[in-house]
Amino acid sequence: MSDRDSLKNTFLVAFVLCLVCSLIVSGAAIGLRPIKERNERISFQREVLSVAGLYEKGKNTADDIPELFKQIKTAMIDLETGEITDAVSDPDSFKLKDVSKKPELTIKIPADQDIAGIKRREKYTKIYLLTKEDGQIDQLILTVRGKGLWSTMWGLLSLDGDLKTVRGLTFYEHGETPGLGGEIVNPKWKAKWSNPECPKILFDEQGEIKIAFYKGVVSCDMPDSQHKFDGLAGATITTRGVQDMFKFWLGEQGYGPLLQKIKEGQFPVTELSNK
Ligand SMILES: Cc1cc2nc3c(=O)[nH]c(=O)nc-3n(C[C@H](O)[C@H](O)[C@H](O)COP(=O)(O)O)c2cc1C
Repeated sequence: MSDRDSLKNTFLVAFVLCLVCSLIVSGAAIGLRPIKERNERISFQREVLSVAGLYEKGKNTADDIPELFKQIKTAMIDLETGEITDAVSDPDSFKLKDVSKKPELTIKIPADQDIAGIKRREKYTKIYLLTKEDGQIDQLILTVRGKGLWSTMWGLLSLDGDLKTVRGLTFYEHGETPGLGGEIVNPKWKAKWSNPECPKILFDEQGEIKIAFYKGVVSCDMPDSQHKFDGLAGATITTRGVQDMFKFWLGEQGYGPLLQKIKEGQFPVTELSNK
């Protein structure tokens, strides 16, 4: 046996090969991180624009997103008070998914109030607004999430300036079954949330949250159709998750305090800047 094929040399070659490969992989991961983060940011901005009806697949491209997003105003708010906060040092790099995993940035939700099944809720979050020419709110876009059957469904809800009519609903991440619960991302189902002919209204006349799924197709002439939405066939658990998500996020543990502040004219909408 020649020296080249010795056990020592075999291990040495294997070691050097592993070292070189791991350096290449970690170098690529570090080098590509800014590109990955930029793509994630652009992708989330596309979701915000889509739920606001400002981005149309086929008509717009990824290159349009930074320019289109300039129409959106953002604010970091303290969910408990509904007030703007400066507790977040770098709002531009705020990532809800990361924040929601950090105990110091979240609070535990009492089990009897955890309607959405998310266990912890962020203390501070980012909201997105579109304003009219007179400075009043045209759309208020809120991040929402809740448990479905298999997964947490991460979505965006756009409310009209009246703070009760849905202008759009979208889910940007979920792990429900394609064809069943996964139909929450079906454009036909989503479109029913933003049909001005047959609007969905999340509160009743007394200001109480009122939205429930209906097993079947809701027709606009049905009594209370504005407070009902189509249940997904064979996916009652996912559908109930969507319903409960609204109840949580519009309530006291969610955006209730913010909605109250806006209604009372105590939220400085006109002072917010475009991002
Ligand atoms: C493979 C498989 C995947 C399923 N995926 C979902 C799902 O994503 N969402 C859901 O609510 N139900 C799902 N279900 C069905 C639930 O187990 C349950 O039967 C259903 O939610 C009841 O809804 P229905 O009353 O509309 O039939 C799945 C069932 C099977 C066997």
